[in-house]
Amino acid sequence: MENSIDNLWQHFFTFPRKNYNPYVVKMLDYPEYLGFDKEKINETKGKWNDHFGNNNPLYLEIGSGSGNFTNGMSERHEDRNYLALELRFKRLVMSADKAKRREAKNIFFIRRKAEEIENFIGENELDGVYINFADPWDEKLKNRVIQASLFKTLEVLLKKGGKIFIKTDHDGYYSDILEFMSEFDNYEVIYNTSDLHNTEKAIDNIKTEFEELFLCKHNKNINYIEILKIK
Ligand SMILES: C[S@@+](CC[C@H](N)C(=O)[O-])C[C@H]1O[C@@H](n2cnc3c(N)ncnc32)[C@H](O)[C@@H]1O
Repeated sequence: MENSIDNLWQHFFTFPRKNYNPYVVKMLDYPEYLGFDKEKINETKGKWNDHFGNNNPLYLEIGSGSGNFTNGMSERHEDRNYLALELRFKRLVMSADKAKRREAKNIFFIRRKAEEIENFIGENELDGVYINFADPWDEKLKNRVIQASLFKTLEVLLKKGGKIFIKTDHDGYYSDILEFMSEFDNYEVIYNTSDLHNTEKAIDNIKTEFEELFLCKHNKNINYIEILKIK
């Protein structure tokens, strides 16, 4: 594809605009690390192992921001594959750039919404899902990424024994998640704490960009939940 917004805007917008975010075109510089073409991504449903060229376990991060967490995880676990969903162009470009600079082989960023994952992830294809510091949407709870409907979808996409890992600075979001989890028979909360950084789990924890901010600037406690898909 030619490096031009003329060919690209229709991927993201319904109508042409006067000004475009320069990172829209920059996304084309990272074909090995960043995907946004809906059709191509949907065609990979159930075949992510072919994309990575191995049969390693597949992990997904939802709302990956500038990519520190998934880049860190993929560097630590070269025997796993990592997909990460993000919507913001600049954050995606920064994430892909980090992966490219270290010539990573097991990571791919996707510009797609969490609400669409069943279109491009197959049944039982995932071994784990990470959701770090999802926007709390205090004024519009229905916009939250983490809600019962996502867990219903993940029930199909996660393997038996697969896990969901959630970090949030928002104490209300944390207790709301714990509350609606009790409605599911097929999930079990196997670990939760309202102060991750004062537990033994802090040792292996890879900090996200937002986590650094909440810790250093606001000295905020970080809530953390691990959920097991039982069957
Ligand atoms: C508060 S930020 C946290 C980013 C990163 N996880 C961190 O901790 O630094 C939430 C991120 O989720 C992304 N996001 C919001 N809604 C989303 C959705 N429906 N699907 C995928 N990503 C989404 C936003 O663009 C944003 O970068």
